[in-house]
Amino acid sequence: MFESRLASRLKQQTDLGLLRSRMVVDDISTTNLTVEGHSYLNFSSNDYLGIASDHTSAKLLSIDKYTHLSAGAMASPLVVGRHKIHLELEQLLLDWVGAPQNFNCLLFGSGYSANTGVISALFNIKGDNALLVQDKLNHASLMDVGRNSQALGHCKQVRYLHNDLSSLQTVLAKSNNKNSDEITNKLVVTEGVFSMDGDQPDLQRLMKITKANNAWFMLDDAHGIGIHGKNGAGSLSAQQLTLDNCDVLVVTFGKAIGAQGAAVIASKQTIEYLTNFSRDYIYSTHLSPLQTAAAIVNIKAIQKDGWRREKLAENIEYFKSNLRGSKYQTLDSLSPIQPIVIGDESEAIGLSQQLKANGIWASAMRYPTVAKQQARLRVTITASHTKQQLDQLIKQVTQ
Ligand SMILES: Cc1ncc(COP(=O)(O)O)c(C=O)c1O
Repeated sequence: MFESRLASRLKQQTDLGLLRSRMVVDDISTTNLTVEGHSYLNFSSNDYLGIASDHTSAKLLSIDKYTHLSAGAMASPLVVGRHKIHLELEQLLLDWVGAPQNFNCLLFGSGYSANTGVISALFNIKGDNALLVQDKLNHASLMDVGRNSQALGHCKQVRYLHNDLSSLQTVLAKSNNKNSDEITNKLVVTEGVFSMDGDQPDLQRLMKITKANNAWFMLDDAHGIGIHGKNGAGSLSAQQLTLDNCDVLVVTFGKAIGAQGAAVIASKQTIEYLTNFSRDYIYSTHLSPLQTAAAIVNIKAIQKDGWRREKLAENIEYFKSNLRGSKYQTLDSLSPIQPIVIGDESEAIGLSQQLKANGIWASAMRYPTVAKQQARLRVTITASHTKQQLDQLIKQVTQ
């Protein structure tokens, strides 16, 4: 029965050195955390701009305009869950990313839900012979929904080699082959900044290939929004691109925006379709009004406080340049995600534990989060780290 099956799978995971466990953090900020009475420097936070720590809920709740807001939205958005505060955030996001007039925005409780909500709705059209094309390193939320949609017979999912335009071209060319069954709808999905490698795709060329093959383009900019582009408007803006060739943009609030939740930005017709067919949107309590206000306050701060992005860039450059020539190298990333790839799972865990013994928290990422033998320390650099804190990490990694 289940008991013995669960026990054997957990044992297998333990034997492989892949067992995960939860821990309780006594206290946490962008740069520090305390676990079981021990203090550590935090190099695992996605609060890249230090906003989550600077804007505590006490500060937020002291803003008069927001004191009446409830923590819970009370219902799903189509019942009574959509408040004026949600509309305010939707409009702020549309303006920030420079969405065309015919675009609209939909809020979700998490980035995971936004991604599954979009893809499962787009690939649930009876009679379609649809193709979902994903970068091999796309986030689990994108891969999982693709796999499930394929299993349900709603589409075929194909992955192209990471950031490899000729691999994408080959996949799409095959789909145009006269001998293959006629494909009705195609969607190409990439991240703006890859969550485990920290690198970025050439969005202009990706979108060009996508459009030349009559496919739609979806960008998950979870790690680009707030960090890159004009006033933090994200990866498209950073590459001087508009949303004209981007059919679906997903941004999340849990990283640089320092809150929780996510948004989908797309044409009004697409948003109307998702409002009617995205089960994640229809059947879930709407994003908390308090979280919505937090996202608004934080986005306004990101737009205004250019110094946060400047300090972040300076810290990233400092960390990278000090690691050059050392045993452990970071990948080719200009983002706050600075992975040190070790390869072997147990060696990566060993290094993470060694750092922990010296007061530094840098989590090891291993299979299945990354490919086998691609285990790494996922170091994240933030605007809040001081030079001394960076020096402590550099010293530990280079000695
Ligand atoms: C690229 C990417 N997309 C989506 C998500 C999911 O976002 P959320 O944490 O808001 O569910 C993550 C989270 O790590 C991510 O890295």
